[in-house]
Amino acid sequence: QASIVVLVSGNGSNLQTILDQCEQGSINGKVTAVFSNKSTAYGLERAQQAGVDAISLAQGDFADRAAFDAELMTQIDQYQPDLIVLAGYMRILSDNFVQHYAGKMLNIHPSLLPKYPGLDTHQRAMDNGDKEHGASVHFVTPELDAGPVILQAKVPVFTEDDIEELSSRVHTQEHMIYPMVIQWFCAGRLAMTNGKAVLDGEELAESGH
Ligand code: GAR
Repeated sequence: QASIVVLVSGNGSNLQTILDQCEQGSINGKVTAVFSNKSTAYGLERAQQAGVDAISLAQGDFADRAAFDAELMTQIDQYQPDLIVLAGYMRILSDNFVQHYAGKMLNIHPSLLPKYPGLDTHQRAMDNGDKEHGASVHFVTPELDAGPVILQAKVPVFTEDDIEELSSRVHTQEHMIYPMVIQWFCAGRLAMTNGKAVLDGEELAESGH
């Protein structure tokens, strides 16, 4: 069974679907630890409720990003992870950290990448009058939100939407696609090869890049 380490900063609804699907056996893996850079993240509580180690590191205890990430890496590696899952982890990771987990770190981002890397994606989609929006699961590479896309889910944007409605529509899709991709990885069907996402031996087309 794959050892999965999840990083969160907040609510952890994606974490919850991953915990549930590991429990049910639809993901052939086990969440061995959840780390947060915020001690108040509700995701930590979800981990504890599932009997999973929940650890928070405070940025203020470290001189700089490199020191923080080095400690995070040391602690994560004690769980001998096969896969690192970023699930609403809102802190930029240093190149060193990303390279250490190259090909085995996934992120979910609330936009149809390459559109809207970074923050405030729902607001930006609405401000631009986009008719569709969504979420993307991708391998993490040093450039922010620019790693190869594995799977996307699209949702419509309605003119009467507010940000809560739109973000909850996206969240619902995230809860479908993230566990699916994680299971692909755990089943050995998914890899990053030469900077491309490969599923069952076939290169996945880069949408829009
Ligand atoms: C999700 O919508 C995820 O796509 C986003 O944070 C939310 C976390 O929700 N991630 C990012 O913006 C990463 N830059 P959750 O805590 O309920 O899973």
